[in-house]
Amino acid sequence: MQWRRRHCCTQAAKVLYLLSLLGLLIFLVHQVWLPQLTGLPWWRGHPVVYGGDKLQSTKAKSNTIGLSPLQEEPALDALIINSTRTQPQELVTDGPFAYIINEPDKCSEGTIPPFLILLIATEARQVEARNAIRQTWGNESVAPALGFIRLFLLGKTAGELGLVQQKMLESESRRYHDIIQQDFLDSYKNLTVKTMMGINWVAKHCPNAAYVMKTDSDMFVNTEYLIHKLLRPDQERRKNYFTGNNMRGFAPNRNKNSKWYMPPESYPGNKYPTFCSGTGYVFSGDLACKIYRVSQQIRYLHLEDVYVGVCLAQLGIEPTPPPNEFLFNHWRVSYSSCKYSHLITSHGFHPNELLKYWHHLQSNKHNACINALKERMSRTHSHRLRP
Ligand SMILES: *[C@@H]1O[C@H](CO)[C@@H](O)[C@H](O)[C@H]1NC(C)=O
Ligand SMILES: *[C@@H]1O[C@H](CO)[C@@H](O)[C@H](O)[C@H]1NC(C)=O
Ligand SMILES: *[C@@H]1O[C@H](CO)[C@@H](O)[C@H](O)[C@H]1NC(C)=O
Repeated sequence: MQWRRRHCCTQAAKVLYLLSLLGLLIFLVHQVWLPQLTGLPWWRGHPVVYGGDKLQSTKAKSNTIGLSPLQEEPALDALIINSTRTQPQELVTDGPFAYIINEPDKCSEGTIPPFLILLIATEARQVEARNAIRQTWGNESVAPALGFIRLFLLGKTAGELGLVQQKMLESESRRYHDIIQQDFLDSYKNLTVKTMMGINWVAKHCPNAAYVMKTDSDMFVNTEYLIHKLLRPDQERRKNYFTGNNMRGFAPNRNKNSKWYMPPESYPGNKYPTFCSGTGYVFSGDLACKIYRVSQQIRYLHLEDVYVGVCLAQLGIEPTPPPNEFLFNHWRVSYSSCKYSHLITSHGFHPNELLKYWHHLQSNKHNACINALKERMSRTHSHRLRP
């Protein structure tokens, strides 16, 4: 195929071919060399939902809120409700809500402590999304020998619909054993409760897990890259490690109409501590206990990623910037097998898209960048060669 096409190349196609090779070179320089040099992303997708008006950057909006960056440190004192430190030897309880569905033995079933636990925030109605995740990035066969646990986090739904959904959820749980649910209302404002349930589960039932990732059900997560390129099972387990899309120097959103509004009564300070976007953050297993314990001293904030950031700040732990700024995207990166084989998260996926792109990536993941280029080339060729 390739041979014949090359043989009957017209002059124009030859030039095109050389240009493509040059393109590949530039591409690789940008892909591998520049990002390492500058730490800057070379592509930017469009922010989806989350990136929008979530927060105000003190840098961008410094005039509107009368602040210049780095002038004020996050004042956390106002958030401390209980300065009595829990003793490390004290037992971790289930938290303020009781379990409706739990998987207390999931961790001890393996012969070794799991390498990675995925905590995925989801709602009862998102059955399709859970099934897509089970078949794609949440499939245990991504890391069979290492120990890999997937848990969907849920609250409960109110009303008649809630009863029907609960029955279905319970049968789904019997089938897959990957659901934990506590007795709190599943609402946007209760997302922090949901995340803390997951962190609490790790602290109580799986404290020796090497790493934990918290993410959402509309995400694309390249778990293979996460495990083998970022966390590296062949290396020593990190401690006090927390990473993701680092949000540094952000101010609370004071616009009452915003989804990310933060009332001054809840968070009086003018600046958040560095936190990682809730679309996907990763931390070492030892932090589960520490975050959970310190959270008992800290007043509830409904933005779960900000809340976890406050817990970290109180522990004196600064999130580690990821090796490349474009690994954790809280917007949607336009798909190509090349880009997706070199990122960890991308946001805003319908379950069908997830299946489609995942399978495409699986069959193209070796030489993904070369293949993506070839694909583009052959498209250009056939287009150009058409009479
Ligand atoms: C403060 O924390 C301690 C230890 O976790 C706990 O025993 C106590 O009940 C808490 N007090 C309040 C007012 O929450
Ligand atoms: C997980 O992947 C394995 C191997 O590719 C496959 O046999 C299995 O059906 C997958 N699980 C689900 C739930 O799709
Ligand atoms: C959170 O869940 C609790 C327990 O079900 C409920 O009482 C409360 O109203 C919920 N909060 C919000 C803001 O939905």
